Amino acid sequence: MQEFVQPSQSTTTNCTREQYDADYARSIAEPDAFWLEQAQRLDWITPPTKGGEWSYDPVEIRWFADGTLNLCHNAVDRHLANKADKTALIFEPDDPDGKVRKLTYAELHGEVVRMANALKAMGVTKGARVTLYMPMVVEGVVAMLACARLGAIHSVVFGGFSPEALAGRIIDCESEFVITADEGRRGTKPIPLKANVDAAVDEHETPVKGVLVIAHTGADIAMKDGRDHWYADLASDEDCPCEPMAAEDPLFILYTSGSTGKPKGVLHTTGGYGVWTACTFHYVFDYQPADVFWCSADIGWITGHSYVTYGPLLNGATQVIFEGVPNYPDHGRFWQVIAKHKVSIFYTAPTAIRAMMREGDGFVTSHDRSSLRLLGSVGEPINPEAWRWYRDVPGEGRCPVVDTWWQTETGGIMLTTLPAAHAMKPGCAGLPFFGVQPQLVDNEGGVLDGVAEGNLCLIASWPGQARTLYGDHERFVQTYFSTYKGKYFTSDGCQRDENGYYRITGRVDDVINVSGHRMGTAEVESALVLHPRVAEAAVVAFPHDIKGQGIYCYVTLNAGEDGSDDLAAELRQQVRKEIGPVATPDRIHFTDGLPKTRSGKIMRRILRKIAENDYGSLGDTSTLADPSLVDRLIEGRVDG
Ligand code: WT7
Repeated sequence: MQEFVQPSQSTTTNCTREQYDADYARSIAEPDAFWLEQAQRLDWITPPTKGGEWSYDPVEIRWFADGTLNLCHNAVDRHLANKADKTALIFEPDDPDGKVRKLTYAELHGEVVRMANALKAMGVTKGARVTLYMPMVVEGVVAMLACARLGAIHSVVFGGFSPEALAGRIIDCESEFVITADEGRRGTKPIPLKANVDAAVDEHETPVKGVLVIAHTGADIAMKDGRDHWYADLASDEDCPCEPMAAEDPLFILYTSGSTGKPKGVLHTTGGYGVWTACTFHYVFDYQPADVFWCSADIGWITGHSYVTYGPLLNGATQVIFEGVPNYPDHGRFWQVIAKHKVSIFYTAPTAIRAMMREGDGFVTSHDRSSLRLLGSVGEPINPEAWRWYRDVPGEGRCPVVDTWWQTETGGIMLTTLPAAHAMKPGCAGLPFFGVQPQLVDNEGGVLDGVAEGNLCLIASWPGQARTLYGDHERFVQTYFSTYKGKYFTSDGCQRDENGYYRITGRVDDVINVSGHRMGTAEVESALVLHPRVAEAAVVAFPHDIKGQGIYCYVTLNAGEDGSDDLAAELRQQVRKEIGPVATPDRIHFTDGLPKTRSGKIMRRILRKIAENDYGSLGDTSTLADPSLVDRLIEGRVDG
């Protein structure tokens, strides 16, 4: 186990060790009283009198059910009383010499109202699903808030997903509206967002009737009469009140990959999600009014929802929105942005940390980091070497590091240390946040106490928990609550040490974590077998120095076909077309067969071991239909 790293002495803090102990104990002993108190972080139209009303068998989850509120009001309007002139957003463009745009809360309010009026003009009403396919620009955040203002349900699709993937997500939630931009831009590379929307809508049967287009790069794009509208043409400053919402009214759908089938539309509701993101932001980032916060995640992922759009703005914070990438114009861009905007709290992913670490300290040390006081990590396990580098080099050994474990389904941070309260352990997320009750179980569901390693479950609901999968509650129940009856199963492996600290070891299901992004092996396999020359495919993860995990594909071809570099390139292209560049296979291994049991089940364990280059522990291969295949697979292993 790693050594403890003591927290820095802090003169102002939102939580000391004593407060954590007392509040955590209370959050478990009297959850309703505790959370009704935390709910007061938000302005309610009707304050709730009910806390959690939930059951995991059958599965039904409600929090604050008799309360009404609007989250856009909470993120924007309510700050006008005493923070109207405070900076809400600092937009840093892809081009380091481009124009920085700063919006005060009053200006943000103006933009949100304009956007909400544009959506209304297209016919968006309460409960409508609105798909966002946006670059990382101010209008992305504004569009999410405008939906919340009208009570429309946003479904943000990451701009790196393909038209096919976008179409699937539009169709699944029967979304009639899309908000996009002419183009995005990342490291000078243009991303053809509007053209992708056209491909998605024109080549598939979708219910889309209105597309709102933001002019971002000024690229020449096609507009379809009657369907497509320029934002500037529909925006207006008329009064546009916030729609009163019940706490359990849906706020958004966000698609994420699972171990089987199509991506799942994880549904979050208004009151509980709002309380969870507001509360975790306050405590985990030890937020103080003068802070400048920056979370480098894209709004296309849950991290961007909870710690770009909602958490910071619900707290009235000032934050940076960054359009670009960490390696343009050079590997020092993050630190240049931090120096430029005097960022005090920085939240990023291990994959970015590892990529920067490899480029040498000079890219970091040549920029002033004296504004920084806290660093955060999210999305995948952070290896202790990267953790130490993050703390010592960018953090100058003085900034605490919070390693925050959570998931799309949890809505916000679940396991972490609190900056001034807890010693840190490199590689360990840490302790449960208020109200979180982790439990480790063995494969048979037996509860493991004390120092242990097992499957991580959560045995009590928390306000930020996803309520269902859009349109498929049965799949919600099956996916999360059926492996261990009466418990929420995270699908993560986890260790607990003698101090009660949790260390996540990674997914135990068929989900690959590529650079902090979830990818289902089944999705990649489905994309591969669409190729006319492919017979069968099996996809597994392998350890990757930068990405954390890479995508390793075993492919068998139809009789008479042979593998080649050209075919491998075609298959990569096929996956990019079906899912998007985020899912590009790292390695393609053509094989004459896949290891199967006599009953025809693919033995993925063996495929994983070979991809990992770990042959010592292949385990029992005697049940294979063709045991000689293993040697051929080892021989044909693709490396680099
Ligand atoms: C999966 C969830 C959390 C928002 C971004 C990803 C892995 C996430 C950590 C961490 C170890 C982590 C887990 C989890 N994960 N954070 N700090 N340490 N693993 O959300 O796409 O829903 O992925 O990411 O495996 O299950 P997501």
